[in-house]
Amino acid sequence: MSSILTITFNPAIDKSTLVPELIAEKKLNCSSPVYEAGGGGINVSRAIKRLGENTTAIYMAGGYTGRAFTRLLTREGFDLIPIKTKESTRENLVVKEISTQKQYRFGMPGPETSKREWQNCLAAMAGFKQANFMVVSGSLAPGIPTDIFAEVSRIANKNKAKLIVDTSGEALIQAAKAGVYLIKPNLRELGTLAGREVLTLEQVRIAAREVIKRFNCEVIVTSMGPKGAVLISKDLFITVLPPDVVVQSTVGAGDSMLAGIVHSLALNKSLTEAVQYGVACGTAATMNPGTELCHPADVAHLYALIRSSSSISAIHTK
Ligand SMILES: Nc1ncnc2c1ncn2[C@@H]1O[C@H](COP(=O)(O)OP(=O)(O)OP(=O)(O)O)[C@@H](O)[C@H]1O
Ligand SMILES: [Mg+2]
Repeated sequence: MSSILTITFNPAIDKSTLVPELIAEKKLNCSSPVYEAGGGGINVSRAIKRLGENTTAIYMAGGYTGRAFTRLLTREGFDLIPIKTKESTRENLVVKEISTQKQYRFGMPGPETSKREWQNCLAAMAGFKQANFMVVSGSLAPGIPTDIFAEVSRIANKNKAKLIVDTSGEALIQAAKAGVYLIKPNLRELGTLAGREVLTLEQVRIAAREVIKRFNCEVIVTSMGPKGAVLISKDLFITVLPPDVVVQSTVGAGDSMLAGIVHSLALNKSLTEAVQYGVACGTAATMNPGTELCHPADVAHLYALIRSSSSISAIHTK
């Protein structure tokens, strides 16, 4: 197994609670909150641990909530490199209304992060020389410039690690410009890179090929929610449809999918197997309620279905 390093520039404690009914102006009685450490790269590390492998997670953490965040993470059992920030780690709120079974997600912007702090993060990445895969996932905290990806890409090159990025907006554009091995946009994020709306499979194929030509990235895995995913490189075009499942919550599906892709690549599997395993992990995550990531037994079952059914996975070259 190759060594995987994940980087989370804007982690969060996800605080979940239940409320009978969301009513404005009224005091609402919530259930005891459940706390979870979250943020793109952290979720990828947690999902890979569930799949049976270790990773190392570099993440920013500060203040009382940052200490609580690290305490929550230590029970997960993977290696941690926290980078201290002066401002406190953010807390996001997830409220489920029992009467409608609807989930409301309140995301906070994250702490202002100083230049010295994000440079410390880059120094930790540069110092982790054993990584074969570097996975940067999630948003950038306020104060972190989007052109940080130029430096991230240089570090990955220097350390001979393959850089994998899952982010959105200007940060994604900058990452694709700087040089990445693989990106995992959803349809909206691929649209940001292509500069237009992308909806159909044919539009994905054209847009991803254009992005590969115009930007500096080798492989694009576009996730399409219930329609699975499409992997496109210079000479591969692979579509993977997920098997039918009972969907409980799609929260965290993208992170589980990315975990599956990286886990598979780190085991020297082909890109075809990696995207098939990624879809198995993403879809497995949707079978669980709330923010829960994929369960290994569900992943194994879905992966076997995907591998055995040629109708749900089509491979074309060029
Ligand atoms: N409704 C669904 N039914 C089956 N599988 C799903 C569904 N939604 C998501 N998935 C699985 O999860 C993968 C990633 O989902 P999606 O395209 O929604 O990612 P995302 O938009 O990046 O998600 P996130 O909100 O976690 O960032 C899909 O490729 C698919 O395998
Ligand atoms: Mg996503």
